Amino acid sequence: MSRQRVLSGMRPTGKLHLGNYFGALKNWEEMQRAYDCFFFVADWHALTTDYGDTTQIRENTHDMLVDWLAAGIDPARATLFVQSRIPDHAVLHLLLSMITPIPWLERCPTYKEQQQQLTGRDLSTYGFLGYPVLQSADILMYKAHKVPVGVDQLPHLELTREIARRFNHFYGEVFPEPQAIHTEVLKLPGTDGRKMSKSYDNCIYLSDSEEVVRQKVRNMMTDPQRKRRNDPGDPDVSPVFAYHQIFTTEQDVERIAADCRSAAIGCVDCKGILADNMLRYLAPIHERRAHWAADHKSIDAIIEAGTAAARTAADQTMAEVREAMKI
Ligand code: TRP
Repeated sequence: MSRQRVLSGMRPTGKLHLGNYFGALKNWEEMQRAYDCFFFVADWHALTTDYGDTTQIRENTHDMLVDWLAAGIDPARATLFVQSRIPDHAVLHLLLSMITPIPWLERCPTYKEQQQQLTGRDLSTYGFLGYPVLQSADILMYKAHKVPVGVDQLPHLELTREIARRFNHFYGEVFPEPQAIHTEVLKLPGTDGRKMSKSYDNCIYLSDSEEVVRQKVRNMMTDPQRKRRNDPGDPDVSPVFAYHQIFTTEQDVERIAADCRSAAIGCVDCKGILADNMLRYLAPIHERRAHWAADHKSIDAIIEAGTAAARTAADQTMAEVREAMKI
């Protein structure tokens, strides 16, 4: 029996942070063992919101690929590629757009939400409305069984299933209906306690040096009620403690929590322990990153090989699509 296929993509946002790692990459890394994985950079999707300034897309694509490899995504086990290098994604997007009712797209929660949130640019474009159709094309092109995504993407997966059903209804069974796998199991706050996000400037990046990591941990927010060293603290409201739960052994976490409540340990020492543990955890990632960041040529070769493999799969699907549609 052949392995089930997993496909996922990320928009090229540039360097990735710990939120991206625990929200997606760590899962991708684990899935490579059990599934036939396809992971790609959705650079055309970046255009749907950032069409006005495309100068960073190439560099961001490269930086993100370096972080994928640093995170342990292994080109020997997964197929890595860039969306725009496989023009058939646009062909399938066009064909699917013919059968997608506009209300399905207007109803999509991400459509209205993003239009409201991303102010300062005109998102009443054809391409932005069609964002989920392009995503459907990405997924159906490889007949993926499983698609690991964050909760915000679940409506897009539902739409993909609806489009697949509609296609199969008109032209015959070509596309299996993909299942979503939620990946946001670990919610890591930013250094200020809010959601970790580039726009809040509260991220720890996979590419941060040891010194920068230590400094960011030192400046992390703690229990705001704990003003003096001898005040007892509440670990449950401190982002530092949320981090300990990931990076520190269970036994030590319990001890640190108790010592925080009794003021036996101060925030400076608590953060020092965290920085040590975090850096130990990140060491293999930092090591791989140092290796790949210096090697543009190998990254190009990995994408070349991944694109060729993805194209073979895409060619086969497109032949079936043309046959089914008699086109
Ligand atoms: N829309 C996804 C996101 O913003 C990225 C994406 C594009 C994607 N095409 C995909 C994810 C196909 C999974 C499958 O995160």
